[in-house]
Amino acid sequence: MNLLTAQAPARVPSSGKGLALGIWRFMLVALVLVLSLGVTQAAVAQADPDREMRTAAPSITADQWRQVRSGETGPNYRDSRHDSNYNLINASGETWRTLRNRWVSPFGLIAIVGMAAVITLFYFVVGRKHLDEPRTGRKLFRWSLLMRSLHWTVATLFITLALTGLNLLYGKFVFRSLFGDAFWGWMISASKVLHNYLGPIFGVLLIVLLISLLKDNIPKKLDWVWFKKAGGLTGKHHPDAGFANGGEKAWYWLLATAGIVVVASGFVLDFPNFNQSRDTMQWANIIHAVGALGLTAVALGHIYIGTVGTEGSLEAMTTGYVDETWAKEHHNLWYEEVKDQAISEEEVAARKSGGGSDPSASRTS
Ligand code: HEM
Repeated sequence: MNLLTAQAPARVPSSGKGLALGIWRFMLVALVLVLSLGVTQAAVAQADPDREMRTAAPSITADQWRQVRSGETGPNYRDSRHDSNYNLINASGETWRTLRNRWVSPFGLIAIVGMAAVITLFYFVVGRKHLDEPRTGRKLFRWSLLMRSLHWTVATLFITLALTGLNLLYGKFVFRSLFGDAFWGWMISASKVLHNYLGPIFGVLLIVLLISLLKDNIPKKLDWVWFKKAGGLTGKHHPDAGFANGGEKAWYWLLATAGIVVVASGFVLDFPNFNQSRDTMQWANIIHAVGALGLTAVALGHIYIGTVGTEGSLEAMTTGYVDETWAKEHHNLWYEEVKDQAISEEEVAARKSGGGSDPSASRTS
């Protein structure tokens, strides 16, 4: 799977049909752009902390705020936990609320909707990256059943966490008015329970996935060349790549850094019983949201490239095998190492139906 290796297939709309297709594509792209502009506009409009403040805490007056800010707060504002001297209404809480509502929320939505729009545009303008040569029909083993199961479990958990997280941040603007309070109440508490319980499971499995893939994702000089050539987007030939190419390694290291930060900050939020202060929780919340929204936006790119974006990639993660042509074009150095192990489709089928175990020695890079 190559990050951004798509090259424009020769597509000349010479016939009427071609022109109609061109117009149809243009309309779709325009629609996506208009919709994404509309959504981001709405996001910015929603991010009015003062408006939300009026709904969330209507009884706090300007005088009370002055009092809070000057530090003259009485017991009425105090956290009732036995050892707490923390003011429930305080300036740092207001800073957190403003950061979350005015910056994180709208810009997170802009990143995700913007990424979806860019991908859609890319697909309709540049198109799917097809294999340059015909398939040989001979297959190379790439991912074991264990690795595929791990990948799909982590992916399913990530998508569930992304959807429930997005609901926690934006759901009220859409579903509350759409479904009414009763259903919305059920929906948001279900989202919260799922998010809180699945987060730690995702964290543990992500670490297992990262450790299993580490050997193949050590950065090398050739990855830099891969990026300089934009993964094959410029020039005629695919840049050199071993088992993982530069794009895949970038995704790996993003998960190994931002992914771990999101998991760690999630733990701080999930277990408030370790005496962490509210300020720590507020910062954990901001870090968690920024990291998670960024990762979700990039994950859209990974999902696109792994499905419709590149011919032959998805079968790697579904069947465990890839065609020789795909291996040669996207991972030429890995292909050179394992080409002697290519088998026919019949042999793959026999291996799978006979319950034979996956070979394990196909990865040496
Ligand atoms: C439905 C969504 C997804 C699809 C269709 C998908 C597809 C794929 C495919 C086809 C590959 C194999 C590429 C190859 O053989 O070179 C792959 C690799 C990988 N995927 Fe996904 N994926 C999805 C979601 C995710 C998510 C959410 C994560 C992480 C949170 C993830 C993490 C990875 C990693 C770490 C690799 C290995 C890349 C490497 O070698 O470094 N995937 N994915």
